[in-house]
Amino acid sequence: MAKHRPWLVCCFVLVGLICAVAVICLCIASLVDRGCSSGSFKRAAVAADSKRCSDIGRKMLQDGGSAVDGAIAALLCTSVVNPQSMGIGGGSIFTIRNATGHVKVYNFRETVPQSFKANLLKDCPTTFTFSTGSQWIGVPGEVRGYEAVHKQYGKLPWAKLFEPTIRLAREGVPVSSFLGKLLNYNIVKNYVENSPLCSLQVFCNENKTVLSVGDIVKFPKLAETMETIAEQGADAFYTGKIGHDLIQDIQAAGGTLKMEDLKSFKVRVQDTWRVSLGNTQMHIPPPPAGGALLAFILKLMKEFSLTSNSLHGDQKIQMYHHYIEALKFANGQKRSISDPTCNNIKSADHLIDPSFINLIREKISSNRTHDYSYYNNIKPSPDHVGTTHVSVLDEDGLAVSATSTINQLFGGMIYSPQTGIILNNELVDFCGRADTVRAGKVSDINADFHPKPIEFKTLLIVDIQSLFSLIWSLIVVIGEQPPSSMTPVILESESGGLLVIGGSGGSMITTAVALSIINHMWLGMNLEDAIAAPIVFVDSQNNVNFDTGFDKSVRNGLNRLGHKVGNWKYFMNVVNAVEKKNGCIVAVSDKRKMGMSSGY
Ligand SMILES: *[C@@H]1O[C@H](CO)[C@@H](O)[C@H](O)[C@H]1NC(C)=O
Ligand SMILES: *[C@@H]1O[C@H](CO)[C@@H](O)[C@H](O)[C@H]1NC(C)=O
Ligand SMILES: *[C@@H]1O[C@H](CO)[C@@H](O)[C@H](O)[C@H]1NC(C)=O
Repeated sequence: MAKHRPWLVCCFVLVGLICAVAVICLCIASLVDRGCSSGSFKRAAVAADSKRCSDIGRKMLQDGGSAVDGAIAALLCTSVVNPQSMGIGGGSIFTIRNATGHVKVYNFRETVPQSFKANLLKDCPTTFTFSTGSQWIGVPGEVRGYEAVHKQYGKLPWAKLFEPTIRLAREGVPVSSFLGKLLNYNIVKNYVENSPLCSLQVFCNENKTVLSVGDIVKFPKLAETMETIAEQGADAFYTGKIGHDLIQDIQAAGGTLKMEDLKSFKVRVQDTWRVSLGNTQMHIPPPPAGGALLAFILKLMKEFSLTSNSLHGDQKIQMYHHYIEALKFANGQKRSISDPTCNNIKSADHLIDPSFINLIREKISSNRTHDYSYYNNIKPSPDHVGTTHVSVLDEDGLAVSATSTINQLFGGMIYSPQTGIILNNELVDFCGRADTVRAGKVSDINADFHPKPIEFKTLLIVDIQSLFSLIWSLIVVIGEQPPSSMTPVILESESGGLLVIGGSGGSMITTAVALSIINHMWLGMNLEDAIAAPIVFVDSQNNVNFDTGFDKSVRNGLNRLGHKVGNWKYFMNVVNAVEKKNGCIVAVSDKRKMGMSSGY
């Protein structure tokens, strides 16, 4: 017996050990499982404006596509599901983080054409309105941009990204409850019914009244256009027949765009600005994007050491008071956002400079607000609404935060009948935020261009036009981009968490995204609640406007501190975000636009 004992002990110890390891493993597994709440995803997710488009994005990812493939497909889908928000007649900003943490911005927002209406800014509205008219059309960058990001990060064939949307455009999409409601708002209804969008029967019935929820809207011309782009690539749009037809239609509508504007459009590939918010690093797109304003507000709010306690009683009033003061200062800084390639001074750097943040922090009084002039606000810029955002994270860890726009609702309501494209009215963004508009600036000799040697004999018979196009191809033209509120960002926490977030809603983007981040990161709300929480919007007159459902007692407290309440009615702010934390992915599409995310 005694001889067997050590063997038995050994056996027990071994079995015990195996059991212990198994129990620990089970515990960890169940903990991890419990950590991933229901409704979260394990591998990848897309948060677009609508369930239909989030699903199309997810399908691309499941078929082996990258987050960039998913984002492009979801945006193309959005151009027919929410055609008021974006389309291939507009432009986008993509912030892309690869799996090893390198972040790049692909900026292909619209630019000022070579020639544009004299004294354009004299046409600027002074109050909230839809700016219709062909003078506001900027050079569309959308398709060139898709080409650039797809070339760098795409895994699926280019044409595949277009397939689902071509089908939707051809077979028709039911008007969503969101779009149906929007079309039937009096102000929108009037504009649409008096625009080519109606007379050409895109969004109207035969009797020339706007469509309603559930009506089927088809885009047969756009389907053809997308099919050509899918088959022939972006050049079909920028140098080929689509471009020629589009320019013809724009000129027929009185616009100034020329083929040369399309041919010379360049996507800007930029480094992000890296902004630290405590232990979190935020990557923002540089000016003329709106990232610097968002970073300014968040860095300022970081000074107030917010916690979940800030959501109670007087502390809540104080928090919103400080936040509103920060927004007033941000309004005063809007004019420092401009296109650095056309304005030699880098005039927005100070917005993320700690000494400037301190200076402004000291100017915020806890017990009062101030007059308009206190905030360096010279002239209010007109507020407006529009745009869309999609956040995507794929299995390989590629993250895409993409904001896309044709500016205001249906752009400037200019429709190209030959191509089915709705044109942007992006140049309105200069209004109130700039004193001048610069035409495309002819810059250095194009370093990428290696002309073939031309024989003297050939040169003699070359006609003037091809000589011009040769000279043209030797130079790079950089058109000015208007200042923007668009701010697709990516945040990285110290523990490796990622938050891919951005928003739409024109002037309301900044506050919608800032509050979602504050609510989630500092006040402890989950991502869904953080985005759903009622926002406060400080309009360009520095009046404070409250989203439906905003806490009444806080409102009263803010009134006591002297804030003037405005009468803003259009809370069209929409935030879409994807977060990965501890191996779980949460994706939220804003309910304000009746959106829904999708993942697996
Ligand atoms: C991320 O980008 C950097 C810089 O371009 C590159 O060196 C690195 O290999 C990329 N990582 C992945 C996983 O593609
Ligand atoms: C226009 O047509 C639609 C659909 O056919 C119909 O619902 C609507 O009542 C009509 N409006 C007028 C003013 O006739
Ligand atoms: C606000 O606080 C400052 C400094 O604490 C004080 O001097 C000032 O009188 C207060 N103002 C009001 C309106 O209570």
